[in-house]
Amino acid sequence: MSKYKRTLITSALPYANGPVHIGHLAGVYVPADIYARYLRLKGEEVVFVGGSDEHGVPITLKAKNEGVTPQDVVDKYHAMIKDSFSRLGISFDVYSRTSAPIHYETASEFFRKLYDNGKFTEKTTEQYFDEENQQFLADRYIVGTCPKCGFEKAYGDQCESCGTSLSPTELISPRSMLSGNTPVLKETRHWYLPLDQYEPWLKEWILEGHTEWKPNVYGQCKSWIDSGLLPRAVTRDLEWGVPVPVEDAPGKVLYVWFDAPIGYISATRELTPDWEKYWKDPETRLLHFIGKDNIVFHCIIFPVMLKAEGSYILPENVPANEFLNLEGDKISTSRNWAVWLHEYLEEFPGKQDVLKYALTANAPETKDNDFTWKDFQARNNNELVAILGNFVNRAMVLTEKYFSGIVPERGKTTTYDEETLNAVAQIRNEIEKSLDNFRFREAQKNAMDLARLGNKYLADEEPWKVIKTDPERVRTILNVCLQVTANLTIAMEPFLPFSMDKLRHFLNLEKLEWQMLGEKNLIRAGAKLNPSQLLFEKIEDKEIEKQVRKLLDTKKANEMAASTAAPAKDYITFDQFGAMDIRTGTVIEAEKVAKTKKLLRLKIDTGIDKRTVVSGIAEYYTPEEMVGRQVCILVNLEPKPLKGIESHGMILCAQDADGRLVLVSPADLVRNGSEVK
Ligand code: MF3
Ligand code: ZN
Repeated sequence: MSKYKRTLITSALPYANGPVHIGHLAGVYVPADIYARYLRLKGEEVVFVGGSDEHGVPITLKAKNEGVTPQDVVDKYHAMIKDSFSRLGISFDVYSRTSAPIHYETASEFFRKLYDNGKFTEKTTEQYFDEENQQFLADRYIVGTCPKCGFEKAYGDQCESCGTSLSPTELISPRSMLSGNTPVLKETRHWYLPLDQYEPWLKEWILEGHTEWKPNVYGQCKSWIDSGLLPRAVTRDLEWGVPVPVEDAPGKVLYVWFDAPIGYISATRELTPDWEKYWKDPETRLLHFIGKDNIVFHCIIFPVMLKAEGSYILPENVPANEFLNLEGDKISTSRNWAVWLHEYLEEFPGKQDVLKYALTANAPETKDNDFTWKDFQARNNNELVAILGNFVNRAMVLTEKYFSGIVPERGKTTTYDEETLNAVAQIRNEIEKSLDNFRFREAQKNAMDLARLGNKYLADEEPWKVIKTDPERVRTILNVCLQVTANLTIAMEPFLPFSMDKLRHFLNLEKLEWQMLGEKNLIRAGAKLNPSQLLFEKIEDKEIEKQVRKLLDTKKANEMAASTAAPAKDYITFDQFGAMDIRTGTVIEAEKVAKTKKLLRLKIDTGIDKRTVVSGIAEYYTPEEMVGRQVCILVNLEPKPLKGIESHGMILCAQDADGRLVLVSPADLVRNGSEVK
């Protein structure tokens, strides 16, 4: 901290065109929240800002597809995102939005100042235009083939297949997203931020001045700067956005990546009239929490904007994370491959801390990482329940049992007691070192070590045995345990705020400041504890299976949507069809065929006779499910032995894209032996 008086924490503004998911949380909001809570606990002056990013082409396209206005789209998702962040306990001091009037004002002023001071270059170029819709096709309004990798659905600003950033004129065979037509070129005038002019300054400021930034962040900056920067257009021919605040610019708005980061400033202005001290005082430390796809905007473009404006401070650090995958696959909004925060909050009520804990334990800090439901369950059951919850619960319950819930005195202590108490201060150092370096998973693990320490101490001291021979000694043991517990309320507070609220209530303790972590008498002998409950509950297999099934269903739906039906077969005659004798029948017996995976032996009442059929459906139906079902059966198929059993006919099934078989049955009950035709 030293040279700084206060910290301003920003977290990337999520696009208000969909809900937030665990990828957003793990990459940005959970670490930013932990850090904000940590600084507040230390008594430092800190402001944590967030808000919704409400401009940009994906929003207008979504509005058009749904037949609503862009404002409708952002109103819906802004409300939803804001609400789910608040329920998760992301402790923003302000959560604003870029369609707010204060933002229009701030962004316009900002642009105007750069404009008046001649910081932009103005250029007329030819850009793609959709004649049918009378609209220029910026960014995601245009698709085409990527010149780098050949992907056919690359956007005008980026190829999502190879990650290259593009401009519309680089696309091969471009098409309009609005009409599907091939666009024409038409002249238009725009303002550019001449990034190239700032190259020497960026080299000095980042490449020489910020070698302490995370390697992933520093590396990306270096590669951008080394490959040469180009002037970048900061205006667009669009209707949705902040209008370009100069006289002769009708139909032009600020580029979304120009206005969005200014949203951090607008949000601070919304929070306090004293906003300038957070943005213009060199004693403020500015930190941007973002995901890796935002690095260039926060480390190069926005700082150049701030520098060009002249009165603002620059980010001191940009602790960007890599990506979180889900069950081995890239998280994707369009494929619905995500765990959505609002759904999680509904399905796991009261378990906000569990999600935060699991995401932090597995945070993609130095490389992409994978979220799995199994891991989520294990983090809860094996760590929160078995380590932290178990220790706290035993300390509380034993105190209730032996001392009616009154904190016992610590008598003469052993070396082991002292070592245990001293270890707390040691652990505090470790947590601080990790947090100060934005290593949140390590910090959380260090904090958890405090509970591990407590568990080991209890297991070694065995108060439940000692009580029989030396009840006085048990007073000291439980006092030590309760001191460790009280310390946990501080150490765990940034990570598990809801649970530590509960724990403080059990202990009858006020919220303690970070500086007290490590003290040996946080809880006073003679104090009365409140009745306690379990801090964490086990998550059962069936809850996890439900989530996994939900994802499998999504995967299935995606595959089905992507698969095409097999081509039609050649014509047959009426007689050929009539030659097939298909009847309805009821399954009266069913069993698995020994030593096979796929086969069931069925006894079927066909109305004509009762016959044996061997069918390859054992992977999809159990024998119990089959008995009593009505099915359709081809009865005049020539008999054929299968695994030594003669099969007399074939059960009709539909087979879907992944090979799964589904029985074809009469829609209503009919007499067995009815002809199917
Ligand atoms: N909406 C952007 C995204 O989700 C992030 C904007 S961050 C800001 O990638 F700095 F521009 F606000
Ligand atoms: Zn590509």
